[in-house]
This record gives sequence, C-alpha cells and structure tokens, in this order.
Amino acid sequence: MGWSLVLIDLKSIDIRQFKNAITFTGDITDEDFVSLTATEAFKKFGRVDALVNNAGISNIASALETTAANYRQVLEVNLVAPFLLAKAFGRTMLDAGSGSIVNVSSVAGLQGIADRSAYNASKHGLIGLTRTLAVEWGARGVRVNAVCPGWVKTEMDHKDQAGGSYSDLDITNHVPMAKFARPEDIAEAIVWLSDSTKSGFVNGVALPVDGGWTNDGSWQSLRLKHRD
Ligand SMILES: NC(=O)c1ccc[n+]([C@@H]2O[C@H](COP(=O)([O-])OP(=O)(O)OC[C@H]3O[C@@H](n4cnc5c(N)ncnc54)[C@H](O)[C@@H]3O)[C@@H](O)[C@H]2O)c1
Repeated sequence: MGWSLVLIDLKSIDIRQFKNAITFTGDITDEDFVSLTATEAFKKFGRVDALVNNAGISNIASALETTAANYRQVLEVNLVAPFLLAKAFGRTMLDAGSGSIVNVSSVAGLQGIADRSAYNASKHGLIGLTRTLAVEWGARGVRVNAVCPGWVKTEMDHKDQAGGSYSDLDITNHVPMAKFARPEDIAEAIVWLSDSTKSGFVNGVALPVDGGWTNDGSWQSLRLKHRD
C-alpha cells in the first residue's frame, strides 16, 4: 500500500525524499494548530486512513527533582497532544467508517523505570487512552493501538545518554535479543497496525517491540549466561 503523508513536527521537515507529502511546522500541544493540520490534510487528500502519534519528549530526573512544570510539559506533549490529534483526525475517520490510529508508547508504558516519573506516567496514560478510544471507536470502524518500543538509537537516545544516565551496554545486557531496536523495527510494526488489510481485527493492543525486554524475568547473570 502506497501512503500519502502529512508530516507534523516542531522542526521543519525535508520532504524531497517523499513522493506525495505535505508538512506542517508547529507545536502539537496547540489545539488550533492541530485542527488546522487536520483541515488542511483533508483538503489536500480528501481522506485520512491512519494517524501515527509519534512525537514525544523524555525527561530523566528523579521524582523529587522533577518540577511540576517539567511534569506538566511531558504530559502535554506525550499524552494531551495525541488526544488532540486523535480527535482532530479521528473525526474524519469516524465519518468515513474506517481508519487506524497508532500511538507510540514505550516499554516505559508497561513497566516502571526509575528516574522517569513524568515520561512513564505519560506513556502508561497513552496506553489507557489507546484502550479507551479502541472501545469508543471500534464499532465505527476505527481501530486504535499502541506500539511499545524498547531502546532505539535516535536523537532522544543520544541526548539521554549524553546526560550520563545509562550506556549502550546497560541496554544491550538487558535485552534478550542483545541489541537496540532499529527505527525500521518500530516503523514496520506501525505500518502493520496502520494497514487494515493486514491487522484489521487488532484493536486496543499495546504491542511491545522490544526484543523481549518486557517479558524477561531473568536476573542479569542468568540472561548473560545464554549469550555464550
Ligand atoms: N528512542 C527510544 O529509545 C524510544 C523508546 C521508546 C519509545 N520512544 C518513543 O518514540 C517516539 C519517537 O521518539 P524518538 O526517539 O524518535 O525521539 P526524537 O527526540 O528523536 O524525535 C521526536 C520528535 O518529536 C518532535 N516533537 C517534540 N515535541 C513536539 C511538539 N510539541 N510538537 C511537534 N513535534 C514535537 C521533535 O521535534 C522530534 O522531531 C517518542 O514518542 C518516544 O517517546 C522512543
């Protein structure tokens, strides 16, 4: 299936590599901006088949060192904005009687991880939103699912590691598949969930794409013993 794309980010995006794409530069926590993107997207393409809520921010600090302002900011971007986007683009899908929304949560939406109170709460909340919209909109043909990536080498990971909170080895020692996810690993799961001809009866799931991280109860030495 060839997709036409509507790409939204705070930073301007170079769309020369895409055949059929439009881009919007702005802040997805701004409801007026979100409404504008949905209206313009519909004007340009006349339909919306899928929405991927991928933008997000991290915040690494102990709970006691996390200010209310930091906490609110993370919730605004990671949890309120996907709600605004789901409503703005979901309306068009509901009118058409079909569509798919994929929210990018995290393994941090399924487990507690220290020093990430705001991020973890936002990603847990995003799974709650996913399940609720799946119930509200499923009978009207709109599926809503989440993917829960493990660690991926992106700008977010570079920035978080630069703060000194973890190393590559901390992650690879913990992942049963002994490596980081590639961006393509996450993208392929998102494309599958977006495509109703492939995943048409999958609704309300939080799919880990984590190399086994969230299903591994082994202690470190036991896991590492199986690497020889
Ligand atoms: N990198 C990882 O290890 C990892 C693991 C699990 C989940 N995730 C999740 O995957 C998603 C993508 O993360 P990434 O690693 O590519 O991060 P990234 O920081 O590399 O990219 C995030 C993008 O979101 C955009 N953005 C941030 N705030 C915005 C706003 N208010 N309005 C519009 N755009 C905004 C940024 O400009 C940036 O382009 C995020 O939701 C993240 O929480 C990442």
